[in-house]
Amino acid sequence: MYDTAYPANLHDSTERCKPYLTEKKYMNIFDATRKFYNAAGVHPTTDPDDSRSKFAVDRYKDHLPKLIKPGIRALDLGCNAGRFTFAMEDMGAIAIGIDFAEIPLRHAKKVALRRRSQCQFNIGDMAALPYKEDSFDLALLPHNIGYLPYQTLESLSVQLKRILSDNGIFVVTMHDELVKRAGEETLPERYDVQTGLIGGSRTIPDKGTYASPWYFWTVAFAKYIVEKHLPLEEVEQVEENRYVLVFRNRKG
Ligand SMILES: C[S@@+](CC[C@H](N)C(=O)[O-])C[C@H]1O[C@@H](n2cnc3c(N)ncnc32)[C@H](O)[C@@H]1O
Repeated sequence: MYDTAYPANLHDSTERCKPYLTEKKYMNIFDATRKFYNAAGVHPTTDPDDSRSKFAVDRYKDHLPKLIKPGIRALDLGCNAGRFTFAMEDMGAIAIGIDFAEIPLRHAKKVALRRRSQCQFNIGDMAALPYKEDSFDLALLPHNIGYLPYQTLESLSVQLKRILSDNGIFVVTMHDELVKRAGEETLPERYDVQTGLIGGSRTIPDKGTYASPWYFWTVAFAKYIVEKHLPLEEVEQVEENRYVLVFRNRKG
């Protein structure tokens, strides 16, 4: 049985994390992340059909609905079991979710059938999105930035410039890692200065312990990278350390 507080209390920030930094396999964040989310499967706090998953979308109740106009084509980047994809559809969007973990994606497709939802779910990697020019009016990266190496956020921004319509928006929700981790005693041992990776592991009950790497992203750095390709429109603070960044595509 999962602890319902997953995933926050499964983060292991002890000495045990350090070996992961030096293991070569750890350095491939894509493999490690996909392996973890396939093993984790679907949990009450991530299942769109469970009311315990709603808190994640509800946090943005004053922010997301005003960005989602009826009929817009929306892409949920790193959709997992689809709670933000379905939420965007409920707000009036034609929504597609993409993720590279098959297990949660399979669940999202089942939920879509059961709900008679029009949401679609695609398997794929944010580093190489399988979409044509002008496919979406909005792309949402909901609290997944930590899984992206610095180069990948930049290549994602370049891809979105093409995939988003003119005036389309890229919405990033994130916390600032410096604010979160200032004073954390084990951080210097877990942090790799060359890449920005923070080592960590998470234990899934009955399944084992998995490497759970995460990149050190600050709001200023994310802004700097994306703004090179998509102009920043606004940054809104949602909670003490939670932000919504909106970038607007200008094709001309
Ligand atoms: C923290 S979960 C968030 C899921 C979803 N946004 C939600 O709130 O339910 C992160 C998801 O991002 C996916 N992910 C991470 N890196 C990815 C990448 N490069 N391409 C596609 N999916 C990725 C993982 O497989 C995982 O399902």
